[in-house]
Amino acid sequence: PVGAAEFVPAGADLDTVRAAAAGCRGCDLYRNATQTVFGEGPADAPVVMVGEQPGDQEDTQGQPFVGPAGRLLDRALGEAGFDREAVYLTNAVKHFKFAERGKRRIHKQPSRTEVVACSAWLATELELVAPELVVCLGAVAAKAILGPSATVGELRGQVVQRPDYRITGTVHPSSVLRAPDRTTAYADFLDDLAYIRHTAG
Ligand code: URA
Ligand code: SF4
Repeated sequence: PVGAAEFVPAGADLDTVRAAAAGCRGCDLYRNATQTVFGEGPADAPVVMVGEQPGDQEDTQGQPFVGPAGRLLDRALGEAGFDREAVYLTNAVKHFKFAERGKRRIHKQPSRTEVVACSAWLATELELVAPELVVCLGAVAAKAILGPSATVGELRGQVVQRPDYRITGTVHPSSVLRAPDRTTAYADFLDDLAYIRHTAG
């Protein structure tokens, strides 16, 4: 495993980079997954939202956030006043990592090594889209963007200024689906997105 960097074409536009990502073998995750799931959205989106990795449905359909977590995110974005079509959605890791349990494929969290291996794609997306605001959805995204000691807690309701963009975050939409008290978890998620919508201007 060599990391994604050597697969990233130099000086290319987003569509060319996306096409190159389809052939990435920068870590072992491409072996068992169906396909690379690259980010989607306007190439000049002012807001980029970063998830963890594609899930089962994203893996088969080849698009980010089209499964259960994506539907929850869609609904919450709409309720918070975002136009999903105006947001660039991507993931820290571009291949689905899973364990097979019978016929089901159970999500496994990517390792730090895999996140780092894949980081050249995310870095290139951020460089080309050049958003004003980067929203980390969950801990894996927060660590991918800010480093291994970052947490979601320190990003919720707050903005970190970086030279190229501002960074904020909230929980991953999957965590809302798994929460014992889903109603409260969803309301908290909506509050965060309303703050983010406000801060995005
Ligand atoms: N979870 C993510 O983090 N990303 C997706 O694209 C889907 C589910
Ligand atoms: Fe490449 Fe990322 Fe897929 Fe690993 S997970 S093969 S680094 S695109």
